[in-house]
Amino acid sequence: IAPSVSIARINTIQIGKYEIDTWYASPYPEEYNRLKKLYLCEFCLKYMKSEFTLERHSHKCGFTHPPGDEIYRDKSISVFEVDGRKNKIYCQNLCLLAKTFLDHKTLYYDVEPFLFYVMTEKDEYGYHFIGYFSKEKRCHANNNVSCILTLPIFQRKGYGNFLIDFSETELTIGYLLSKKEGVCGSPERPLSDLGLLSYRYYWRNTVLKTLLENMRPMSIHDMTIITRMTADDIVRTLSELGMIYKKDDEYHIRINQAAVKEYVETQKKKGLKVNPSHLRWSPFL
Ligand code: COA
Ligand code: NA
Repeated sequence: IAPSVSIARINTIQIGKYEIDTWYASPYPEEYNRLKKLYLCEFCLKYMKSEFTLERHSHKCGFTHPPGDEIYRDKSISVFEVDGRKNKIYCQNLCLLAKTFLDHKTLYYDVEPFLFYVMTEKDEYGYHFIGYFSKEKRCHANNNVSCILTLPIFQRKGYGNFLIDFSETELTIGYLLSKKEGVCGSPERPLSDLGLLSYRYYWRNTVLKTLLENMRPMSIHDMTIITRMTADDIVRTLSELGMIYKKDDEYHIRINQAAVKEYVETQKKKGLKVNPSHLRWSPFL
């Protein structure tokens, strides 16, 4: 019988002006993992042992934004596309950071096959990290997202939904990142509890939006083409909304007024939307 191993765990990370409690262990090198607190450069995500080292690093770091290309800007919100091959250390640091809020993630060092989309908010000091999602460059399983994170201090403000929505936007440079004609995508499984809640929210809104904006008889297939959601995700979402029923061996979609009302309320509440006209494929910076 293997002895039970107690894994040392960093309790807190300092990033920018925030001190954040971690949720799970992350495989930082052992000499770092022994510490209670880790200090991260908020721009290059380098991890350090002390405030003093971070302070010294800040003077010579030179970065005030993530590496890679700024491909989206809408007022203070930007998204940077970072290639795991070209910016390996940054992406590894990003994965290590993400793992502190994920119980099941397995990607840390093999970042090269992935692209990372980092969301930031700009002020006079720079582009501050909010969250990110990653995508496999050549994904045969049509997973449009392999990992998604919003730093806990920024959660429940609609950023996660923005990232999911962004991942669904047609992005084609170099790699075919997202929705090729007729190809449907779904996030990589298993989803965490929070991932599932966030995707359910996104799917619910997407399905309702599609039905409300296209007031005509529609099949599941039609909906897969408009939403690029998989038929499975659509059927499950409709059934969670109580909007699919069986009659004479055929499935029918029926609008659920209560769900529509809730959707309309949601739309009033949330300000942050992906605006495709703000996508730029030549870097801003
Ligand atoms: N409890 C209940 N519902 C939640 C929730 C929570 N903690 N977090 C998200 N939701 C649902 C809600 O319906 C929410 O809408 P509402 O705030 O109007 O009720 C909706 O999802 C959208 O939430 P949003 O604010 O856009 O998401 P977020 O910025 O908080 O980010 C994650 C969501 C999943 C990215 C974030 O929780 C996270 O980083 N978790 C840790 C990493 C992780 O588990 N990633 C997913 C891996 S599969
Ligand atoms: Na989790």
